[in-house]
Formats: sequence, structure tokens, C-alpha cells
Amino acid sequence: MAGQIPQRFIDDLLGRVDVVEVVGERVQLKKAGRNYSGLCPFHQEKTPSFTVSADKQFYHCFGCGANGNALRFLMEYDKLPFPEAVEQLAGRLGIEVPREGADDPRAQQREKKRKEGVNLLELAASFYRERLKMQEGQPAQRYLSGRGLSDEVIKTYGIGYAPAGWEALKQHLSERGIGEPVQVEYGLLIHREDTGRTYDRFRDRVMFPIRDLRGRTIAFGGRVMGDDQPKYLNSPETPVFHKGRELYGLYEARQASNKLEQLIMVEGYMDVVALAQYGIHNAVATLGTATTEDHLTRLFRLVSRVVFCFDGDRAGRQAASRALETALPQMIDGREARFLFLPEGDDPDTLVRREGTQAFQDRVTCAMPLSEFLFEQAAQGRDLNTVEGRERFASQVLEALNKVPEGMLKSLLLESLAKRSGLAQEQLKVLLEKRSQASQRSVTQGDVSQEPAEQLESESASSAMNGAVLAAPARSSRSRSQALSPVGRIVQLLLHEPNLVVTLPDHLEWLPEDGDAPLCRELIELLKAGRYRSPQVVLAHFQGSQQGHALAAFAKRELLIPKADREAELKGLVEHLQYVQRQRSPQEEYTALLAQERAGQKLDKEQRQRLASLVMELAQRQ
Ligand code: UTP
Ligand code: MN
Repeated sequence: MAGQIPQRFIDDLLGRVDVVEVVGERVQLKKAGRNYSGLCPFHQEKTPSFTVSADKQFYHCFGCGANGNALRFLMEYDKLPFPEAVEQLAGRLGIEVPREGADDPRAQQREKKRKEGVNLLELAASFYRERLKMQEGQPAQRYLSGRGLSDEVIKTYGIGYAPAGWEALKQHLSERGIGEPVQVEYGLLIHREDTGRTYDRFRDRVMFPIRDLRGRTIAFGGRVMGDDQPKYLNSPETPVFHKGRELYGLYEARQASNKLEQLIMVEGYMDVVALAQYGIHNAVATLGTATTEDHLTRLFRLVSRVVFCFDGDRAGRQAASRALETALPQMIDGREARFLFLPEGDDPDTLVRREGTQAFQDRVTCAMPLSEFLFEQAAQGRDLNTVEGRERFASQVLEALNKVPEGMLKSLLLESLAKRSGLAQEQLKVLLEKRSQASQRSVTQGDVSQEPAEQLESESASSAMNGAVLAAPARSSRSRSQALSPVGRIVQLLLHEPNLVVTLPDHLEWLPEDGDAPLCRELIELLKAGRYRSPQVVLAHFQGSQQGHALAAFAKRELLIPKADREAELKGLVEHLQYVQRQRSPQEEYTALLAQERAGQKLDKEQRQRLASLVMELAQRQ
């Protein structure tokens, strides 16, 4: 990136250009009182509701709400990214755009590299396009028309042909003074370490240029025409191409429409171009990767609705549930995600050909809302006629809900969950709250797990715990439907790692009085006494008792924290409880200390002093 454009400069620039002039060059405006008005360029209309104010240097459409200053107009109308829009405006006035830190040699170097790479890739793209039109491109032409693509779509998507042979592109570029190392760096040439030779990466393939939002080629995907492998070959990661961010077809979709409302996510290049062939210009594809957060961030910046398209088979369902996971944290108000499952054996390419445009559009319109897919997933394999089934169902939905930002969707999901699970909404809210606290806590305590909620809810039995002692039935409600409290997590940690007991402070005043604390206290004392050093033996000790059942349930939760981090985790939990303790009222603290003394635990010097000062403090209050 070049340096940042200073805000001062932008303000100054906006002070010097006239929005009426900028808009007037592109939209027919008529003077209407103090303002100008015309037909809005951002939506279809017959009577003008678009106004431009010279006083305010602002445009506004009463029909669709589009509004902004001259810069915004250029960005929207000419589809320019911000820096280019600034360049444009500055160009009108004949002034140069200053860049902060432009004298930073590293930034300069990077910018130079980017330009060089993009130029090189543009050259390659036009080379491939030219070759498609030549004699040697005939089979590729036939292949493309065999797949139903018109010349127009081929042109729109800049599809080309990489000739057979080993050095066609290399020669072409080298003749234009481009060094081999750069060609290697941008993924066009392959360099073989062993022989030191270089040769074209893409040979005898139909070439799909991958473009960035400004339409500059940043990478390629190449398809074989026969049955060779791999079917599709993509550019490697380069300084300008990051697979996990880019989407095939996004540039073209933006070009096709001024007011994109939704984008359809499909799997492959051919799906995008086949849909375009059938007049559906708003499909994009990831480049052989799963949908990432980056992808969604980009899409939701452009449109408010994304429809994910998946094959109807198992793999498709799996991909869909991964996409769901990725989408959940992004679902702020105003955004919508839908899931479209295709008939088994079809992809969008085959389907749109067979059923036609309208039928495909109908499927898109009727795609499953995110909420429905979420519920369907959670209900899968569960019998909702049983209490247990409903509980697990609710638990899974809550886990997902925990990832959804506050807003309408979350409230609606909660409401709907209450209806479907038969649990009261209030109750669900409490569970959700607990869950989110637990996951926040584990994050602040440096939990290494990426998915704290999952960690808390993992159902799989740890292998160490799989001994015969677990024959007693675990209380499922406890092991599955609730997030563990900090005390519960301590119990779980100690069960898996009894040796950690030696790292605990001598006194247990930080243990609260309620919940799992009595069990925790008993466990700690038992472990401290030193005879139980393996989980199985601990469980055997309690077997058959109430505590035994509770402990077995704790043991069944897999401990996903790596061994090396468990001690720190335990320490963090204790510190948390100590902190909570300090937040208590003097009266509560006094009662707790007294209870500890009465229970026969000796107080240390610090605690005795504390008790004394509490007595004073409380006495003064009365
Ligand atoms: P598919 O094998 O489903 O191909 O791969 P497709 O899109 O239906 O292709 P056609 O219709 O046979 O031409 C789906 C996507 O997975 C990636 C590509 O992005 C492809 O479009 N892929 C697949 C690869 O990157 N490499 C491969 O070898 C195969
Ligand atoms: Mn296909």
C-alpha cells in the first residue's frame, strides 16, 4: 500500500470541488429552487427524487436513501475505491495527492512490487485471451461453447487459453523485459530446485482470471479440457493473491449491477460463469477453500444478503454447517444469510442449464433462512419428543446463539428456541448469559482453546476416564446442557490432573459456599491427603455416592486444554474466585471467615488480622 492520504488534504479537496459539477457530468440535473434534482442513478425511477445541494455540497435520494459528498458519489457511481476517487478529484484540479509516510522506503518498495505484479498479471491475462482467439485456441473455444458459454460471457469474464508447451508465456513475458524471478514470484512460472529450470505453470488449460474489486487481474484458475488432474489449477499465494480473501466473480458482479442486493456463493468458476450465461450475474465463488470470515466481511460490506449454495450430498451439508459457524458472528442487524441446498448430483451449472433461469431464481428466493438451518442442524439425530433430546437440542442452539451479536436475530432465535424446546425464554436467557460469561472468562484467562463454548460443552469422554468406574450413569443434564461454573472447572481440572492439587493455595477461603463448592472442597481435601493420584482411583473412592455421580459427569467432559497449560488455567480460576471474594461485602467476608474457623480450618495470620478489622468495621457501622 502507498502511504495514507492525510485527512487535511481530503477536507481541503472537498472544499475545492463542486459536487454539482461532479454529479452533473454523470446525471442530468435540473435546477429546482436552491438545489438541483434529477433521476437517481442508484435506483430505477421515473420521477426525480434525487437532489444535489450546492450549499451543503451533498447529494441525497429520497427514494433509495443514497447520499454523500462528491467523493462518495465517485466511489458509488464510478465504482472506485476510496484512494482512486481521491486521485480522480485531485486530478480535476490538477493537484498531486500527498501520502503520509510516502518516503518510507519499505512502503515505496511494496507499492512498486504491487504495481509490477499487477502489470505482469495483466500482461499474462491478455496473452491468454489472445491465444484463445488463435488457431491453437480452437479446442478451448470448442470446449467453452460445448459448456454453453457465449462469446459475450467469455469476454466479460476475460476467459483465455494457456497454450500447451512449456515456455509460451515465459517467452512472451521475457521478450517484454520481465525477469523470470518476478514471473516465479507471481505464480506464472514454476522454478524447479533440482534442475534449476523454469517453465509455465499453466499449460493447455482454459484460463479464468481472478480479479480484485478494481478489475485488476491478481491470479488465475486454469481448467484442463480433458480428464487430467488436477481439474483446476490455481495460482499460489503471491504478494497480491490471498486465497482466503478473494472471491471469483465479485468484480464482474459489481460491474453488472449498480445496486447489488444479494450475492450467491457457489463453489466453482464454472458455476459463476454458467449462472452469468443465464442472466444471473450475482454469483461469486471461493477459490477452492471453505468460506472464511474475510470472505464474509467483504461480501457483507457490499450487500446485506448472502445466499450460500451447497450440493445436496453429505459433503455439502458439512460445508454448510462450517459456513454457518463462520457466518454466526457476522449476523448483525440488517444482514441476512440463507442456505440453498441443490438436488443431489447437481451443481449450479448443471441445474441452471436443466431448469432455466426462473426456476433457479425461485430456488434462491426460497433458500432456507439461517435460523431454520440452525434449528434443523441442532435437531438432527435427536428425538425432540424426549426431555433429553430437547435439552441437547437447546444446548446446541444456545452454543450457536452465543456467537451471534446482540440484535434482532438473536432475540428471534431465542424466542423460537423457547417455542421449539418447550423451555421458558427467561430460563434460556439465563443459560445463555452463563454460557457467554463462561466463555469470556476462559478467554480472559488465557484459555488456549479457540472455541471456549465448545470446550465447555464437549461431550466426548476423555480416554483416561473411560474405565469401568464410569459404569455409573452420568447425570446428563449436568454434563451436557450447562456451561461449567469456575468451581466446576476446577473440579474437572483436578479430576484429570490430580497432581495439580499441590499448586493450590493452602487455604480455601476463595471457595464460595454454594453450588459445586462442597464437592470441590471434599475433592481437594482428599487429594491433599495424598492417596489418590489417578482419576480412576478418585472416582472409585466416590463410586455409588451422589458425589460419585456428579464427579463422573465432570470426568466425562473432555479436557481440551493442553497439558502444559493446565496449571496456569487452574491458577487463573483460583485468582478469579479470589477476586470475586474480594468483591463481597464485609458482612459476607466476615461470615465466610467465621464459617471457615468453625469448620475447623485454622486461619493464617493475614486472615486473623482481616477478621479482626472486619469485626471493627462492622461494629462501627451499627
Ligand atoms: P468441482 O470439481 O466441483 O468442479 O470443484 P466444478 O466447478 O463443477 O467444475 P466443472 O463444472 O467440472 O468445470 C469445485 C471447485 O473446487 C475447486 C475449484 O475452485 C472448482 O471450481 N477445485 C476443484 C480446485 O481448485 N482444484 C481441483 O482440482 C478441483
Ligand atoms: Mn460443475
